[in-house]
Amino acid sequence: MSSAFQAPTGTHDVLAPDSALWEGLIATFAQFAFRAGFTLALTPMFEEIGVFNRGIGEHSDVATKEMYVFEDRGGRTYALRPEGTASVVRAFVQHQPTVPYKAWYVTPAFRYERPQAGRYRQHHQLGVEVIGSDDPAVDVEVITLAWRFYQALGLTRVRLLINSMGHAECRDRYVSVLRAHLNEQRDQLCDEHRGTWSQNPLRVLDCKRDACIAVTTEGPMLPDFLCADCTAHFATVRRSLNDLGIESTLEPRLVRGFDYYTRTTFEFVADALGTAQNAIGGGGRYDGLSQQLGGKPAGGVGFGSGIERLLLARDAEGISTNLINRTIDIFVVDTTGADVATVLVDQLRGRGYAVDRSFDARSMKSQMKLADRSGATVALLVGPQELAADEITMRELRTDDVDRAQRRVSRDDLWSALRELLHK
Ligand code: HAM
Repeated sequence: MSSAFQAPTGTHDVLAPDSALWEGLIATFAQFAFRAGFTLALTPMFEEIGVFNRGIGEHSDVATKEMYVFEDRGGRTYALRPEGTASVVRAFVQHQPTVPYKAWYVTPAFRYERPQAGRYRQHHQLGVEVIGSDDPAVDVEVITLAWRFYQALGLTRVRLLINSMGHAECRDRYVSVLRAHLNEQRDQLCDEHRGTWSQNPLRVLDCKRDACIAVTTEGPMLPDFLCADCTAHFATVRRSLNDLGIESTLEPRLVRGFDYYTRTTFEFVADALGTAQNAIGGGGRYDGLSQQLGGKPAGGVGFGSGIERLLLARDAEGISTNLINRTIDIFVVDTTGADVATVLVDQLRGRGYAVDRSFDARSMKSQMKLADRSGATVALLVGPQELAADEITMRELRTDDVDRAQRRVSRDDLWSALRELLHK
C-alpha cells in the first residue's frame, strides 16, 4: 500500500486563504517597483554552479553547506538558485542592457538549512537590483523602496541596520588586522569557527554564537578601516536616509553571508519576531560582482526580502488586513439544468465582475451553501420559474436588511441593478 505524498521537509504549500496575502504582497511590491522605474527580470531557477560559487563565494555557508547541486543528463553541474542577485548580474553581463539597469524580481530560493520557524529549504524573495552605478543615491533609492514597502504592509517595528564594508582594498586592510586578532583569540571561538576562521575571517563576524560574538565585539571594526572615498560614500548614504526620515543604526559587525558585498550593507530586522530569524530583508552593494562573472566593471546594489518572514512579521504585529481585494462579487446559482449559468457567468465576467458558480448539478441548498462560503456580495439565482419569466433572483449575501435581501429583476434590468449594488 502506498501512502500519500507530502511536500518535502522545509517547504510549504501556499493555498487560499493565505495565498491571497501573497498576491497582495507581490502586487504591492510590483507597484512600488514600477513606480520607482524598475522592470521585471525573470531568470532561470538554476544556473551553472560557478555563477553562485564565484558570486556568493566558495567558502560562504550557502555555497559549502546549503546549495542544491545536481548534474543534469548532459553531465553539466548546476545549482538551484540560493538567492536572486547572482542570476540577475549574470543576465546583466550576458545581455548588456543600458545602465543603470534597474530590475525587480519575485523568486523562490533554495537553501538546505535546518528548517525552523522563518527558515525554510524553499523560501521566496521579493527583491530589486540596480546595476551600473556607484552613486550613493542609488543605495538610498534601494533602501527607501524597501522601507516604504514595509510601511505599506503596515509594519511599524522594523529597524534598519547598516554598515559599510568598503571596497576591495579597505576590506583587505581590515581582513588582515581581523585575521591577526582572530589568530590571537582562536581558542575562544565557537567550535565551528575555531577550525575554519582562517579560510574567511569575515564569516566569524556573521556567527550568531556567543563565543564568536564576544571575540569579534572586542576586535577591530570595519568602518575604522575605510578609505576616504568609501567613508564619504557611506556618510552620504546615511545623511540622505536621515533627510528622508529613515533612521539607520550603525552595526559595524554586519558583513552578511555572501562574499560579493562591498561598501554599503544593510539588514531590516523585525523586532516583533524575537531574535531568531528576524531579518525580513537585507542587501547591499556588490561593485565587483559583474567582473567576477566575466563582465565589465559595473557597480551594483540591491536587496531581497523573504515573503514568508514578511507575513510572519505582519502576524506578530497583529496586522491581518490584505492589500488586495480577493473576494468575488457574484455567485451564480442555476437549478435549471440548462446552460444558463455558463452563458450568464461569461457575460458577467466580460463586464468585469469577479464571478464563480457551482458545477455538478447540485441541489439549490447545496449551491446556496457554496455561494455563502464564496464570500460573494450577491448570488444570482436562476430556476425554472426565473427562466420562464426571463428574470433573475438577486439575493444579497452580506446584508442584514431583510427587505433588500432578495428581489426578482428582469434580465434587462440586471445590469443596472448590479451596478447600483456593487458600485461597479
Ligand atoms: P539574504 O539576506 O540571504 O540576502 O536573504 C534575503 C532575505 O530572504 C532574508 O532577509 C530573509 O528575509 C529571507 N530568507 C533568507 N533565507 C531564508 C530561509 N532559509 N527561509 C526563509 N527566509 C529566508 C540575499 O539573498 C541577497 N541576494 C540580497 C541582496 C539583493 N543583496 C543584494 N541584492
